[in-house]
Amino acid sequence: MTDSRHETSFRLGTRQVQRLGYGAMQLAGRGVFGPPKNRAAAVAVLREAVASGVNHIDTSDFYGPHITNQIIREALHPYPDDLVIVTKVSARRGPDGSWIPAMSPAELTQAVHDNLRNLGLDVLEVVNLRSMHNVHHPAEGPLDEQVTALAELQHQGLIRHIGLSNVTRTQIAAGRRICEIVCVQNHYNLAHRADDALVDDLARDGVAYVPFFPLGGFTPLQSSTLSDVAARLEVTPMQVALAWLLHRSPNILLIPGTSSLVHLRENLAARGLTLTPDLLAELDGIAVAH
Ligand SMILES: NC(=O)c1ccc[n+]([C@@H]2O[C@H](COP(=O)([O-])OP(=O)(O)OC[C@H]3O[C@@H](n4cnc5c(N)ncnc54)[C@H](OP(=O)(O)O)[C@@H]3O)[C@@H](O)[C@H]2O)c1
Repeated sequence: MTDSRHETSFRLGTRQVQRLGYGAMQLAGRGVFGPPKNRAAAVAVLREAVASGVNHIDTSDFYGPHITNQIIREALHPYPDDLVIVTKVSARRGPDGSWIPAMSPAELTQAVHDNLRNLGLDVLEVVNLRSMHNVHHPAEGPLDEQVTALAELQHQGLIRHIGLSNVTRTQIAAGRRICEIVCVQNHYNLAHRADDALVDDLARDGVAYVPFFPLGGFTPLQSSTLSDVAARLEVTPMQVALAWLLHRSPNILLIPGTSSLVHLRENLAARGLTLTPDLLAELDGIAVAH
């Protein structure tokens, strides 16, 4: 394992971003659907994140839908020059909050325009194509038509860079034959390490790996080893989980999601946490136990 804790930033497309960013999904209502209970609190979280050095925010227009992007715009527009907002396309929401694949070129084009309008941008810095072949995990299936559609929007100047999400190695390789893929956003954390080899391969190629559910997502990470290490360091388990990811590989960019200022501060403090090789080895055991 590479000790990458000293690398505080990494290249995302043509921009250098801080490795500890912010994921905006928690800013919508329950089930990522509808408005949040407290919109002012959501605005405050975004403003404090940016004031604290975060310059990479992950979002999508299907969070809410539309609402999360509108809150980002309300909180941060006009955007600081160094802020990189990354969005994702390929789903829409049913009236009951369900996640419905929307992967046709026409739907992807519509989604890009929705993101531009709701974020108040003329061009999207990075758009991830989120595969919906299986909603829950990467599943083989063609994405050429979808990547080609995004590449066309890139040629039109609406998108600067393209990434892939919820994808397999085969899909990444196929995507790279069509256009440059600047990041991969897949499910990965201390306990869920199916992408271990992929993380290392992308690091060698200078491609960012952005784990979603870095804290376990809808089922937050729970492990006695994690709690024990955190207690010894007098920090929280979530801080250890984020620090572990920062140590894991220099191309890992973090986007922990929270609707709470207290949790935001706690998560950002993980930037200063050093894990010794002994502790890293102990934490590596968590995945083996799963
Ligand atoms: N590409 C994809 O398919 C995909 C899928 C899912 C997510 N994402 C992106 O990835 C980002 C991160 O994922 P996520 O937000 O689902 O999951 P996550 O970051 O793993 O965890 C978020 C959960 O942990 C809680 N939390 C955050 N900080 C905490 C802390 N310090 N202590 C205790 N609990 C804490 C949050 O609740 P509180 O609000 O109470 O803090 C929330 O319930 C999202 O915001 C989204 O941008 C992408």
